[in-house]
Amino acid sequence: MDITQSITIGKRRYIGCKAKLADWIMQTIETETNNVHSFCDIFAGTAVISDLAIKKYGKVIINDFLYSNNLIYKAFYEAGEVDNQKLSVYVNSLNQIAPDQVEDNYFSINYGNKFFDFQTAKKIGFIRELIEQDKNSFTTKEYCVLIASLIYSIDKIANTLGHYEAYIKKEIAPKHLELKLINYNSLEQVEIHREDSNQLVRKIKADVFYVDPPYNSRQYSRFYHLYENLVKWDKPTLSGAAMKPAEENMSDYCSSKAPKAFDDLISHLNTKYIAVSYNNTYHSKSSSSRNKITLEEIKDILSKRGPTKVFEHSHPFFNAGKTNFNNHKELLFITHVNEE
Ligand SMILES: C[S@@+](CC[C@H](N)C(=O)[O-])C[C@H]1O[C@@H](n2cnc3c(N)ncnc32)[C@H](O)[C@@H]1O
Repeated sequence: MDITQSITIGKRRYIGCKAKLADWIMQTIETETNNVHSFCDIFAGTAVISDLAIKKYGKVIINDFLYSNNLIYKAFYEAGEVDNQKLSVYVNSLNQIAPDQVEDNYFSINYGNKFFDFQTAKKIGFIRELIEQDKNSFTTKEYCVLIASLIYSIDKIANTLGHYEAYIKKEIAPKHLELKLINYNSLEQVEIHREDSNQLVRKIKADVFYVDPPYNSRQYSRFYHLYENLVKWDKPTLSGAAMKPAEENMSDYCSSKAPKAFDDLISHLNTKYIAVSYNNTYHSKSSSSRNKITLEEIKDILSKRGPTKVFEHSHPFFNAGKTNFNNHKELLFITHVNEE
């Protein structure tokens, strides 16, 4: 029996995900722009914005420097052969695996009784290893679809608040892991990169660039280290309470270098329109959620490229409950880039 591919790209917990704002962001961009054929989501995260852009524009470029995000984009969008019947049979057989028949492994030893109950962690590690061993019997696209399906399926049952900086410190009730296939497509119009955004913008062009960098000190590579590890599967030694690997892909946007990095990025965009998301948590009391770039800096930097408008949308937001910031606004800047 074919497994239904019910998992869409936005069905994932991800800090700063724009799923709830995506329609507003895309409608605003559409109203403010003309003659757009290509779109670039340069800090794509979950790619929910790219997902809408794909429905509107002839070419979409998707970039993020995390390995797990990159694999997910390839799984959902990259052109490639998939035998759905073969994958369904394979996933059905993975779902039959009984955790108590499985030995302790890298995943359960490191993450068991932390991010997942021990039995479920054993099953996840066993499945990941099996996919690696069977890699040669799958196309690259099928391999990406299987690993992305594993990520989306375990995301639902992880003992976390939506990221892997920490786990919830209480006894974990055993969960039933049921792997479901993601709803993949094979699209020629999508171009996927895994590069530092500031480097990539020097090489590409698009009619619209959507820019949504991290604005506080919390590094995405540290939030989602477990998925990075699961995707790379080179099994490094892990340390600390959250069992993290050595640092990699640390973003300048999460440090005091952020204003300079943003200025450099914006000044190198080869484009007609720039759309920048920003939320005004700058005055937050918690230093880790305080913004590294101010509203004024964003405005000044964008205005150097052309006339800039700002649009507002109110919404509830994540900040670990430390601040009651009633005035929270989600902002969208749109710059009409001056011709040189
Ligand atoms: C605020 S999130 C984007 C959220 C996204 N718009 C969504 O709706 O899911 C910022 C993203 O930028 C990525 N990132 C941070 N610094 C980067 C850099 N220098 N180059 C490429 N990607 C970077 C992070 O991995 C993260 O996924």
